[in-house]
Amino acid sequence: MKKLSALFDRNLSEEIAIVRIDLNINNKTLKARTDNLRVISIIPTIQFLIKRGAKVVLVSHRGRPADGTKSGKLMTDNIKEFGLKPFAKILMGLLKKDVSFIPLDTKRGQLFSENDAEKIRQAPKGSIFLLENIRFLPGEDKNDSAVVKSLAALGTFYVNDAFAFCHRKTASMVAITKLLPSCAGLLLEKEVFHMDEAIHNHKHPFVVILGGAKMTDKMGLVKRFIDKADYFLAGGGVANTFMAADGLPIGDSIYEKHMIPVAKKLMKTNKVIIPMDVVISDRKIVDNGEGTTEEWVEIIKNAQTIIWNGPLGVIEDKRFAKGSLDVAKAIAKSKAFAVVGGGETALAFAGISLKKNTFLSTGGGAMLEYLSGIKLPGIEALRMSEKPKQKK
Ligand code: 3PG
Repeated sequence: MKKLSALFDRNLSEEIAIVRIDLNINNKTLKARTDNLRVISIIPTIQFLIKRGAKVVLVSHRGRPADGTKSGKLMTDNIKEFGLKPFAKILMGLLKKDVSFIPLDTKRGQLFSENDAEKIRQAPKGSIFLLENIRFLPGEDKNDSAVVKSLAALGTFYVNDAFAFCHRKTASMVAITKLLPSCAGLLLEKEVFHMDEAIHNHKHPFVVILGGAKMTDKMGLVKRFIDKADYFLAGGGVANTFMAADGLPIGDSIYEKHMIPVAKKLMKTNKVIIPMDVVISDRKIVDNGEGTTEEWVEIIKNAQTIIWNGPLGVIEDKRFAKGSLDVAKAIAKSKAFAVVGGGETALAFAGISLKKNTFLSTGGGAMLEYLSGIKLPGIEALRMSEKPKQKK
């Protein structure tokens, strides 16, 4: 896979870089913190490019506006919810540089107009542009190369810096790599490095922390590491299924009945640790209890490698975030090499200064799939684009 970092000594002032990023952040989360991990994590790639003179055209999706549509039309009904315009201001604040927002060409049903393409071509070197949500074009999710034809005609090369979207086979992740010279951005390179370290160079004690809503979502991770990890600490909705399998009361908490036999089998390995006490609200389990946190913090203290995916309680609600926050503090203090991601898990580290051994991933589903050993289409497309084309 070609890497943007390899161009460190190059003058890029003749280039227009099409940079795929992941700004899939909903309004509620964005309102709470504009310095969202996904936004701050793409800054180094943008700075790398503009420092070397390249013009940068940012492309992202947000939400699923075209979900279920069969028409080929733009799906802009929910532009307030899914539009990317607010991010131009946020990026400007972080970069201390102008970021021009380019709206859709609604007349032609295209991502941008010919006029705007010309504006980008004529702009001074180091200019930054943010395009509207590419998922307003239904062909994006169908990996339809027609959607990215105009992007490929505008840009001189393509940078994938959207690790969190690499598990999706879409036009701006896959089809575009057949039309432009392509490479991995600094964030994608960093994400893959840390995931690979956890997979191939883990040391013992090796602890996997499973949180989030469903046990089924974590099964890839469990299968991959069941023989390698020393402990699986089960929290959040994942714990509910294990607790039910163990015959413990879970009130009205959601659990996965069909996973009970699997949970029972996994518990026989003696590697799975379930909460010894929990916080309850409205008859539902909403967080780990104090005793559980104490036990887990001890395990984390001695750990050499940690993978954590998914919050351990209702982290968005301050009253039920303590379990996750205390585990985050323990990880930040520990000497373990830790990779953390999934949903809102990174929120637990807000305000904590991190040493180099703790890596916060921008990936949710992408992190889980990569760690589970699944080949991600976005990354495979970059690998394929390197290979010489076979003569017909
Ligand atoms: C994510 O937020 O995990 C990615 O951006 C994927 O989004 P999607 O599930 O809507 O495809």
